[in-house]
Amino acid sequence: MKIVKTAAAMQKLALTWRREGRKVGFVPTMGYLHAGHISLVKDARKRVGPKGIVVVSIYVNPTQFAPTEDLSRYPRDFAGDRRQCAEAGADVIFFPTDAEMYPGKDEGRFSTYVVEDRLSLGMEGGTRPTHFKGVTTIVAKLFNLVLPDIAIFGAKDWQQAAVIRRMAVDLNFPLKVIVRPTVREKDGLAMSSRNKYLSPEDRELATVLLRAISAAKAAVILKAASAKALKSSTEALISGQSSGRLDYVEFFHPETLQPVELVAPGSQMALAVYFGRTRLIDNAAL
Ligand code: PAJ
Repeated sequence: MKIVKTAAAMQKLALTWRREGRKVGFVPTMGYLHAGHISLVKDARKRVGPKGIVVVSIYVNPTQFAPTEDLSRYPRDFAGDRRQCAEAGADVIFFPTDAEMYPGKDEGRFSTYVVEDRLSLGMEGGTRPTHFKGVTTIVAKLFNLVLPDIAIFGAKDWQQAAVIRRMAVDLNFPLKVIVRPTVREKDGLAMSSRNKYLSPEDRELATVLLRAISAAKAAVILKAASAKALKSSTEALISGQSSGRLDYVEFFHPETLQPVELVAPGSQMALAVYFGRTRLIDNAAL
């Protein structure tokens, strides 16, 4: 497995693969890898076959963090990431520095961003107004450096996957976006690099996100329910059964992300809950 650290070297390598006609599968990450990330790497390996190439990028992208967020304390473990990527069958880790990804940014020269202007406005974009601008910009840049045939994302970040899929179509990236299921801990908590911020008490209570989803599922299975009623019962469940504070809960169409007034099986539910300063998200089809 090769570690590539510069943008120029990454793009040069990608161009040779393209000339050789090799299929490239790409998994962008911010590192501190867990079984959720690794499921994407293994899926990429399967899809490109033994002659194909699997690239994992590890880059904590500063532009998708607001000044008040956890950029400086975001967990990192390159040695662990490297071992897991090798075991999962990755061929290349792209591990650039900020200076490689945003040349001239500190001197105010970096000035081109990618903005998705519809799907990114609510939910995560509502709470984190500058977040998706950073995500679409870095993912577009990574696509241009890795030149993948397929790019694999997790359903854990449902809105992110929808935004990226839209961006790939709107900006004519010649690749296929694939979305894979959320990998969970034994007790149902969605795996996340941020789970390690939780105190032992909050870690136990954090299963409340999935319990809230299960409760909504149970509520709509026999008869559609109003989003308004489900939002208040979700809020009550979160505050009643945990120390968490609900940031948002939404019920929406899984592809268009349009909010629905009447929630029925097949509607998507997404929520974000604060435990202290740590913000957890989850979502599922009802
Ligand atoms: P990160 O949070 O590291 O996630 C990288 C990829 O792993 C994303 O596609 C995410 O949805 C997926 N993932 C995370 N937890 C998962 C889980 N429990 N099960 C399945 N997949 C999971 O998302 C980002 O990084 C960044 O925004 C990025 C796209 C890399 C741009 O900087």
